[in-house]
Amino acid sequence: MAVLNVNIDHVATVRQARRTDEPDPVWAAAECELAGANGITVHLRQDRRHINDRDVWALKESVASKLNLEMSMAEPIVKIAEQVVPDQVTLVPENRQELTTEGGLDCVKFEARLRTVVNRMHKKGILVSAFITPELEQIAASAETGCDAIELHTGAYANAKSERAVKKQIAALEAGRDFALEQGLIVHAGHGLTYRNIAAVARIEGLCEFNIGHSIVSRAVLVGMREATRQMIELIDKYAKRLD
Ligand code: PXP
Repeated sequence: MAVLNVNIDHVATVRQARRTDEPDPVWAAAECELAGANGITVHLRQDRRHINDRDVWALKESVASKLNLEMSMAEPIVKIAEQVVPDQVTLVPENRQELTTEGGLDCVKFEARLRTVVNRMHKKGILVSAFITPELEQIAASAETGCDAIELHTGAYANAKSERAVKKQIAALEAGRDFALEQGLIVHAGHGLTYRNIAAVARIEGLCEFNIGHSIVSRAVLVGMREATRQMIELIDKYAKRLD
């Protein structure tokens, strides 16, 4: 059954709005873990617009569950991952102008670099996930380059307006899941998931991890991080089908 990693980037976004020291993502991570989160995700962007190096090092020490470092394949960031050694890295494309990660990683175009980064992460014992759209060629390239997992990009599902469009996106995610499992990949999902749209994705069997950030942090502003995390876990548990 799928479990929840809470992406706490936007706790740091609030801090950076005043370049001060609060709220501290380390405290937020502890609250998520107390609510039962399976892991904590942070994206160390090259522009350091929210999470910074200190956060990553502090979270490496404090997170008791699983630390998932989202990152681009840019050399300075890869070097930091080698030093910090998080439990997992999720490789994403990064464009300096974007509001959030927009597309999936192009594992076909950047196959050679991906293979190198995967090998370097594996030497440190770090599990590697690639954030990709549910296209067969991307899934095949992830498997061929040695990734352990993929994170299926749920952004197109989250943006789908009509019932027909939603069904089409769920079918694409299911087809991606099927092919990925055939390739021996672990399948995660994330991006744009909210309390209102999690049900259909949580119902997809075989997804084992959701990475959810903005919606949880938004609710946390009103109800607190622990309660917001608890509410999302409750929804995932309600809709997910058990495989055991
Ligand atoms: N997964 C990946 C790979 C992402 O880049 C992001 C955004 O940082 C998320 C999940 C979380 O997306 P959201 O904040 O929309 O829940």
